[in-house]
Amino acid sequence: MSKEQETYKFAEPIKGYPELRWRGKRPFTGTPYYPAQLKETYGEPDEDGWMNKLYWGDNLQVMSHLLKEYRGQVNLIYIDPPFDSKADYKKTIALRGKKAESDSSNFEEKQYGDIWTNDEYLQFMYERLILCRELLSDTGSIYLHCDWHRSHVLRNILEEIFGANNFRNEIIWENQGAWVNSDSWFPRRHNSLLFFSKSPNYKFNVLNDDDISGGVNYNRWYDYVVNNRIYADNAPYHDSRFTTYVNQFEKNNGRKPKGKDIIVDFKGSVLGSVWYIKVVDPKSPENVSYPTQKPEALLERIIKASSNPGDIVFDCFMGSGTTQAVAMKLGRKFLGADINLGAIQTTTKRLVNRVKECAKAGMTDEKNQLPCYTGFEVYNVNDYDFFRNELEAKRLIIEALGMQALPENNLWDAELDGRMVAILGINRIATAAEFSKIVNNIDIADWTRRQAETPNKPIEQITFVCMGHDPNLKALFLEEMQKLGFKVDLEIVDILRDKKDLTFKRDSDAYIKLTKGKLTVKEFYPMNLLQKLSIECQDVEDWRELVDSIMIDWNYDGTTFSPAITDVPAKNEMVKGEYEIPQGAGSIHVKITDLLSESWEGTFEV
Ligand SMILES: C[S@@+](CC[C@H](N)C(=O)[O-])C[C@H]1O[C@@H](n2cnc3c(N)ncnc32)[C@H](O)[C@@H]1O
Repeated sequence: MSKEQETYKFAEPIKGYPELRWRGKRPFTGTPYYPAQLKETYGEPDEDGWMNKLYWGDNLQVMSHLLKEYRGQVNLIYIDPPFDSKADYKKTIALRGKKAESDSSNFEEKQYGDIWTNDEYLQFMYERLILCRELLSDTGSIYLHCDWHRSHVLRNILEEIFGANNFRNEIIWENQGAWVNSDSWFPRRHNSLLFFSKSPNYKFNVLNDDDISGGVNYNRWYDYVVNNRIYADNAPYHDSRFTTYVNQFEKNNGRKPKGKDIIVDFKGSVLGSVWYIKVVDPKSPENVSYPTQKPEALLERIIKASSNPGDIVFDCFMGSGTTQAVAMKLGRKFLGADINLGAIQTTTKRLVNRVKECAKAGMTDEKNQLPCYTGFEVYNVNDYDFFRNELEAKRLIIEALGMQALPENNLWDAELDGRMVAILGINRIATAAEFSKIVNNIDIADWTRRQAETPNKPIEQITFVCMGHDPNLKALFLEEMQKLGFKVDLEIVDILRDKKDLTFKRDSDAYIKLTKGKLTVKEFYPMNLLQKLSIECQDVEDWRELVDSIMIDWNYDGTTFSPAITDVPAKNEMVKGEYEIPQGAGSIHVKITDLLSESWEGTFEV
């Protein structure tokens, strides 16, 4: 068996403990290995050879890939998955550099969906949490961010996987600023973070509140406090209560305090399980306009409490990369994944800027003076050059195959020539797990009646559309149908196999000039974006309004893009568009990413 076909097995749940049941619950006892392709590198490995890693892909496959190298190695996992909120999350796309002049220069683009049928969500979380457990080290911890929709059942699932004795906290985050008032119930003003450790022997650092004003003697000696401390050269020696501190200093140091010796170091009270932190202000520099972006202050607490510098932190629902950005700032190593290409692009841009901040400081921050792990790589798992996000993908497939969409139907996505079509496994290999939604949603009474009317004929003609599939997929589905007493006619259309015949999107175009040691982008036409903005190529006044970033690798090796130029302008600024070609440049690879996170790439020889 080749290494690529390796399979990882997990321990069965321990019998005799409470278990949650749901429709379509399936045991998850193993996963095959999935290979990943390195696509981009930013910066260099650190002294001990470490490179941070981001993966574009379904985190089930990403974690299956990671098991090979990181099983039992990850120190901290934070995840902020979809909450089963029955909503789609959108990002507002607006032209850069100038105020939107008309409605057409602003539009909303879906980033990820959170609409699930029946208990699909629970099976989705169950499988991913099992993989998280496998990746965690014995002293590691996991924080699962959720809200009232599913926190109660997620806690049950976590107890089943991690053991009830490994429950540590339910942290209440009062998400100030994100409140929706209600006159029918108390407004829901918090999210829950379920904190479990892998074993009773786990890392934990006590945190103190930033606010020290409630500390013992703080108000009494307020006039002497500098940087939350009282130094020997300005101390309330006249106060008899202070003598205790002076005596303690002498006992610890074997001498009298002098000059900038610290006699009292005030700390806020020990941080409890209710956290008051503001949501990201749309106007703050921290905001990267990703829907449901979480504040860095929240991640700082989690990472400081449950990891140490140099530890590996992982977030496989990373969105805008808040966890990764904070991990870098705090001198932790990190891994990350997201299924949405927009999330990968947003995180990459954010980290490129964070690297610059860390490089300026040379270290994490003045107080801690830790080295930052700044190099990172971007990988694809499975074939992800195809679609940027799942919601958009279904629409494009339906369009490209000329099918009739069935948006209200909870069983089928579309119809084509009398066949009912289910689009399975976008950006992932379709397995039996993918069709369980159909099996669970069948109207048994109706199908039984129809089958009785024509007992020898298939009652439904079905087409599964997928991107790669388990070779047993057809047999497994037919077997499932047979168990229920139904005959169906199933065909599988695998678009990875047939994709050459399909045109999904209009290509972008760019005009780039290389003269006198300069590379100049003259024009850029991102066709999908222009279409969404209802702009024709000839009406583009300044192509830079459409661009989020330009990256250039001066010596491209043909496979891995390692940009030396990372032109990622601040929110209301624009890319430069003109770059000095360095001595020694060979094969030049340019990547221009538009506001939709779609990229045009081209290679030139000097
Ligand atoms: C609530 S957002 C995370 C936001 C993030 N904490 C931040 O601060 O920006 C959830 C993310 O999970 C991603 N996601 C959903 N299903 C996924 C899957 N199967 N694999 C990987 N990522 C997934 C979505 O694309 C989305 O970016």
